[in-house]
Amino acid sequence: MRFLTLSLAAAATALLLGAEAAPCDTAKCQFPACVCPSVKPPKGLDPTTVPQFVTLTFDDAIQSQTVPVTSSLMTPHRNPNGCPIKSTWFAQTMYSDFSLIQQWYAAGNEVADHTMTHVGTPPAGKLLLIIPMHAIMDDSNPPKAYSMDVHLSGTPEAVSGWLRNNFNRHYQGTRQPFGIFLHPVHVGNATNLYNEFFSWAVAQKDVWFVTNHQLLEWIKNPVPASELAKQPYMKCGLPAVGKEICNGLDNLKTGGKINEKLLQTCNFPSGPWSTCYGCPKTPPTPADPVPERVDAVGTANYRTPVNLTCAMEWWDPVAAQCLCTSSNCTFTDISVLPTTTSGGVKPTTSTKPNNNNSANVMTGSWSAIGAAAAAAAAIAMQMF
Ligand SMILES: *[C@@H]1O[C@H](CO)[C@@H](O)[C@H](O)[C@H]1NC(C)=O
Ligand SMILES: *[C@@H]1O[C@H](CO)[C@@H](O)[C@H](O)[C@H]1NC(C)=O
Ligand SMILES: *[C@@H]1O[C@H](CO)[C@@H](O)[C@H](O)[C@H]1NC(C)=O
Ligand SMILES: *[C@@H]1O[C@H](CO)[C@@H](O)[C@H](O)[C@H]1NC(C)=O
Repeated sequence: MRFLTLSLAAAATALLLGAEAAPCDTAKCQFPACVCPSVKPPKGLDPTTVPQFVTLTFDDAIQSQTVPVTSSLMTPHRNPNGCPIKSTWFAQTMYSDFSLIQQWYAAGNEVADHTMTHVGTPPAGKLLLIIPMHAIMDDSNPPKAYSMDVHLSGTPEAVSGWLRNNFNRHYQGTRQPFGIFLHPVHVGNATNLYNEFFSWAVAQKDVWFVTNHQLLEWIKNPVPASELAKQPYMKCGLPAVGKEICNGLDNLKTGGKINEKLLQTCNFPSGPWSTCYGCPKTPPTPADPVPERVDAVGTANYRTPVNLTCAMEWWDPVAAQCLCTSSNCTFTDISVLPTTTSGGVKPTTSTKPNNNNSANVMTGSWSAIGAAAAAAAAIAMQMF
């Protein structure tokens, strides 16, 4: 369960029942900070020219058991500009390894707030944003909708068909972003099922797997698919730090373990985890999210938290030094363009779409996302 599942399930049900979405005040909701819900792309763009965004997201703890699952689903695929596909992780701190959270973020992915302890009902006033979790429809009549871990709801053959049919409804329709929402612990033997679908999807023209943050950047400044590759937020560059620092990256490209000799290991009853930024005396909790460090300021092993004037990947917490000022940051482009020059393949429908069912079913809204743009941001987590 993710932070917003309850409200989103309610919203999805409302859509299925044909209920009206909450009215949007066009006087208050002004572009680009806010966009009223619409099934059409923003700014009147022709759907055939806009990118088909795919938002693959993961939920819960970022730990040594879950990271390999996400790697096996992401590493094989690249976006049209040759950059690795990106994803948003709705993470909790409980059971997470903080150094792995940092590595996920350093690789250009997004860390989103799933509450620290995975509470079912966040405190009032905390439910600020809604990222639509439109459902994947099966092919029954009337269709049943699944929001998360869709592979658990049918045979591999059936689920593959649903994924392709639902994707096609978006891709051949008004290109509303298409979401795949997974709990890594539940992926199990479905890795191949998803990898086959992802390979099929990214092979089609103008299909991009993005973080929610990247999607919001696009909604604030919508450009045709032909111009997406050159947007700064879609590029992938490895900071050319030039020496090994504890920043979640393989700075010297050794192909070895990241930060291996620089991490500090913190032993707690719930299990050990590592960090670049000094072990706290007690595990962080909502009541005390930033506990005192074991090694105090001025002592030998003290790690200095990221300086607010420095980007995390350039910060050396051992030397308390920012290795780059905006004037001299250099990046190594890590994009790998495919060797073929194919402009993509035409989408195919693997099973006959049931038009009767799909007629009244919204494929998600272009800009329930936009409405959330002002509030949404990758949270700046206090890193340990
Ligand atoms: C995973 O294994 C279960 C049990 O053997 C099987 O029923 C299911 O079809 C498999 N799923 C996939 C996607 O291979
Ligand atoms: C950030 O770090 C630099 C040294 O790299 C230091 O001069 C500066 O005062 C620090 N700024 C803050 C806000 O701590
Ligand atoms: C950027 O400039 C600073 C200060 O001159 C220097 O310490 C640092 O090594 C430089 N970094 C890069 C990546 O060139
Ligand atoms: C469409 O679905 C409705 C309700 O399930 C059914 O009554 C109707 O006959 C179907 N129409 C077609 C053309 O299949």
